[in-house]
Amino acid sequence: MPSQTPTETIPNEPAPTPAAIAVAGRSPYAQILGLGAYRPRRVVTNDELCTWVDTSDEWIRARTGITQRRWAEPDETLAAMSVQAATAALADAGITAADIGCVVMATVTHLEQTPSIAALIAHQLGAVNAAAFDISAGCAGFCHAVALGRDMVQGGSAGHVLVIGAEKISDFIDRQDRTTAFIFGDGAGAVVIGPASRPGIGPVVWGADGSQYTVIGQTRDWKTFMDDPTGPRPFIQMSGQQVFRWASYEMVPVANKALQAAGITVDQLDAFIPHQANMRIIDAMVKALKLPDSLPVARDIAEMGNTSAASVPLAMERMRRDGAVPAGGTALLVGFGAGLSYAAQVVRLPWS
Ligand SMILES: CC(C)(COP(=O)(O)OP(=O)(O)OC[C@H]1O[C@@H](n2cnc3c(N)ncnc32)[C@H](O)[C@@H]1OP(=O)(O)O)[C@@H](O)C(=O)NCCC(=O)NCCS
Repeated sequence: MPSQTPTETIPNEPAPTPAAIAVAGRSPYAQILGLGAYRPRRVVTNDELCTWVDTSDEWIRARTGITQRRWAEPDETLAAMSVQAATAALADAGITAADIGCVVMATVTHLEQTPSIAALIAHQLGAVNAAAFDISAGCAGFCHAVALGRDMVQGGSAGHVLVIGAEKISDFIDRQDRTTAFIFGDGAGAVVIGPASRPGIGPVVWGADGSQYTVIGQTRDWKTFMDDPTGPRPFIQMSGQQVFRWASYEMVPVANKALQAAGITVDQLDAFIPHQANMRIIDAMVKALKLPDSLPVARDIAEMGNTSAASVPLAMERMRRDGAVPAGGTALLVGFGAGLSYAAQVVRLPWS
């Protein structure tokens, strides 16, 4: 007798439902809740600089609008300046370091490849619940970090984000180099980004043009220097005129797109806070954007020089101190620099 194959009935079970992944802690909107700054003690005037660089006070003022800059002293390390600025921002926001879910540090002058200086800053602040990392986007770094902070708060990956823009760029310039020594300065600025009941940070408009990778950079890379340490160590270098042209012309459509993305017109702005690269670039942007004559424009560069990733929060802090901008006013931020990279957004200012 042929063997009988047992018949099985396969139950018609529904496909398993994937486990639901919880989405917690999102906020519909984000805003800047607090602001802090640290300006190094030592003021370096143009006249002092002229004692070792072949330049003049008159030339520097005419070409850049800079009258002085600040260079940090040895105890004013990148971490120390950042902690000072961050402590002020936390107090301003009315929260403690333990409330911070992420520390994002924008800098190009942390001279260790790894680990991030954000981890050390978080530790020194007591931000025990925070992730921490650095980003490198040159002078546009702060505006990049603000965009990340907004998206983290709105996306739920952090309740509050501490964004720091800080540089000790005096460590990184050849102080004899007449093409760079006069322009850069040191400092730190920080903001706390947290949840909001209405939009406080508009969509970012950002990008990078790597075809201009060499326009702002180093005289040589660290590996080349380690392999042949006979020449000078790496310093910052830039093709000034190329940067000047790019920033003056290309940042205008970027700024306009950021306004458009936020649904804001120039007459609704209370302040314009561009990266402080050169007073002539700021003037060119003001003109091309057709900003009203009465609009307060950040001009912190006159006394601080170009502080790279620190320039926008430092300029913001000066505007608060000067009382030129109304409480909760609306400001257009535009960052641009090495990469060449850029980021712009509209924000509600954090003072009330
Ligand atoms: C750097 C910068 C101020 C130079 O100004 P500039 O008007 O472009 O000046 P130039 O390089 O064309 O030089 C003009 C003249 O001044 C001279 N010069 C250059 N540096 C000088 C200095 N420190 N002091 C005096 N003269 C100087 C040049 O030799 C040149 O002389 P020449 O006309 O006899 O040949 C300007 O290009 C700039 O700000 N660029 C943006 C840079 C920047 O912001 N980078 C940071 C990243 S965002």
